[in-house]
Amino acid sequence: KVDRKIRDLLGKMTLEEKIGQMTQVNYSEIGEKGWAGGMPARDKLRKALLEYHVGSILNTPGEGADAVMWREVIRKIQEMAVTETRLKIPVIYGVDAIHGVSYTANSTLFPHNIGTAAGRDPELAKKIAQVTAAETRASGIRWNFDPVLGLGRQPLWPRFEETFGEDVLLVTEMGRATIVGYEGDGLKNPTAVASCMKHYIGYSVPRNGKDRTGAYISDIDLRERFLPPFKAAVDAGATTLMVNSAAINDIPVHADKKLLTDLLRDELGFGGLVVTDWEDIIYLKDKHRMAKDNVHAIALAINAGVDMSMVPMRYVEFCEDLKKAVDMGLVSEARIDEAVTRVLRTKFKLGLFDNPYPEKGVEDNFGKPEYAELALEAARESVTLLKNDTLLGNPVLPLAKDMKILVAGPASNSLAALHGSWSYTHWGAKENLYSKATLTLKEAIEKKVGKENVLCQAVTDFHAQANTDPATALKGIEGVDAVILCLGEGGYAEKGGDINELDLPAEQISLAKVAALYGKPVVLVLAEGRPRIVREIEPAMAAVLDAYRPGSKGADAVADILFGDHNPSGILPFSYPKYSGNITTYDGKFDTVSPRYGGKPRDVQWDFGHGLSYGKFELSELKLNSNSIRGGQKLTVSVKVTNTGQMDGKKTVELYTRDLWASVAPDWKRLRKFKKIVLKAGESQTVSFVIDRNDLSFVNRDLKRVTEDGDFEVMVGGMTEKFTYQNSGKRL
Ligand code: IFM
Repeated sequence: KVDRKIRDLLGKMTLEEKIGQMTQVNYSEIGEKGWAGGMPARDKLRKALLEYHVGSILNTPGEGADAVMWREVIRKIQEMAVTETRLKIPVIYGVDAIHGVSYTANSTLFPHNIGTAAGRDPELAKKIAQVTAAETRASGIRWNFDPVLGLGRQPLWPRFEETFGEDVLLVTEMGRATIVGYEGDGLKNPTAVASCMKHYIGYSVPRNGKDRTGAYISDIDLRERFLPPFKAAVDAGATTLMVNSAAINDIPVHADKKLLTDLLRDELGFGGLVVTDWEDIIYLKDKHRMAKDNVHAIALAINAGVDMSMVPMRYVEFCEDLKKAVDMGLVSEARIDEAVTRVLRTKFKLGLFDNPYPEKGVEDNFGKPEYAELALEAARESVTLLKNDTLLGNPVLPLAKDMKILVAGPASNSLAALHGSWSYTHWGAKENLYSKATLTLKEAIEKKVGKENVLCQAVTDFHAQANTDPATALKGIEGVDAVILCLGEGGYAEKGGDINELDLPAEQISLAKVAALYGKPVVLVLAEGRPRIVREIEPAMAAVLDAYRPGSKGADAVADILFGDHNPSGILPFSYPKYSGNITTYDGKFDTVSPRYGGKPRDVQWDFGHGLSYGKFELSELKLNSNSIRGGQKLTVSVKVTNTGQMDGKKTVELYTRDLWASVAPDWKRLRKFKKIVLKAGESQTVSFVIDRNDLSFVNRDLKRVTEDGDFEVMVGGMTEKFTYQNSGKRL
């Protein structure tokens, strides 16, 4: 039925009207205050919708806009679209609701994906997405440019915080859960949004770490690591996809038909809408120099498989130039029809043709008290205890609530440090836009132990010099029992977060060194979007917590953990590097153990999966139901987990496999299963996993996913068992 409606519409549309549907305009071209947003200016909206037939708009109606204003903006846009345009086609409006509805005032902000991945709970990731979807839809918006499905394997990259970490399985499972959370039981549901898997493909590993620089990824690696999260997302029903702005192996992805059509459409079977990233088509000419003019740049991208151009610099030119490309025979009308069909289908799927306005009652889905509880739970699950020394026979953490504490460091009084990118503004750095209920680390610690027990000389924001000047920041240190030193990063986003060094900035390192001279236990709390190197100061820190970007309730969660009201359970979703010149991943083929150098393990600060709790979880009795499997048989692996500590807590059990030899150099080891369990103090539980040949497969030289016969190891919690797999009878 929908297909017929689409065909009918296409039959009535002029070429200009079709091109308009392929155009996504920045709200700055519509709003009465330009980049500052405001309500739609009628003349600007008329030009876009009536003269250029624009089908999509994105981004902010202005900093601090609340859900009421958003709904009004959307209502006005849709009203013109469905009452004044010739064919009455509604507009699809998209926004970046990354870790919460980041553009709506007073929305709930969750940890960035890097923290959620540390929580290792896909069910929680799904709930976060459900709330984000409900609050987005309550703002009248139905399309969310999320989630990021790139692998976080290049920690210099300023968007590292938006990734679910370095591991394929982790990114795949978290990404899938997020998409299911967004799209729910169907997009007509007024609590669901269309997701946008991004940025297809390979964006997250720029070769020099700078945002939007190209990557070199072998065909095997592309399929082995970078493709599975997208494949799972497509299978989970993701509706749209955004393209990587950069080049892979010297071909900008926007111009790569092999990736955008052959692989994505023909092989993965993706039938949804493909949108570019910001202005990227023009860059095929201006940056990549693959086209002599805009017309040819547009033709390259559309022919490669792009359906919609996000912010084509000047949309008027884009519309005119795409028409020229069709008139010149560079782009076929059939290709235009295919792209427009996908745009219209997305609009039908979202119910926009039935009712393009914010639905009655959606406002009730904004700001529910349980969302804040979920934000607290998510932050608590994510915070990762990396180190906890024992002093005088006792672990440093948790701290006693009657201690006198000095809270110091630039992240102690900064909301930007706790939130990172896409937090009310692009950089999240405007502290005045956060709700009064959002606490800084200093405030949360004061709330926990009483203002009278907390000394904090920090001034107002991350960049204030006094925050890193030891004379000011550590004033009064002689009189306290412990120091909570809050270091890390302020707010940044995309290219704005490019750095040349991964080390924590020198002033922060100096502050930590001075703080450690007084003989007080120094607890380092890191609020950071990527692992900044702490090698020089780590030995002098009595305890270290990584909070990543924990969101609206992040400070409360950190305080709960510091003072023992919550037992930490987050574990690293990446390998925390020790040296800028030694960036490795746990599965690395080349950077792990080399017999020539004495088989030394790679030198990281903390490994993937590392994370402590208060107390101890002991893993024992690793058992396999068989030592060999054939064909499609399944292997059951079980392990006993005991909470030997004094506190109830959670433990993530991870199962890795190692292929001992194969026709392509195998990974050092690979995470195949993980499960987070709850254990009361003293309790034991047996955890079982089932693995089969899919879990042992890899991409071979013919780019086929295969499982070869041979010997394998299975590893859980430091224990290893061997088994063999046989299918073909072909021995290596
Ligand atoms: O969705 C984002 C993308 O991730 C980066 N560039 C801008 C887009 C829209 O805001």
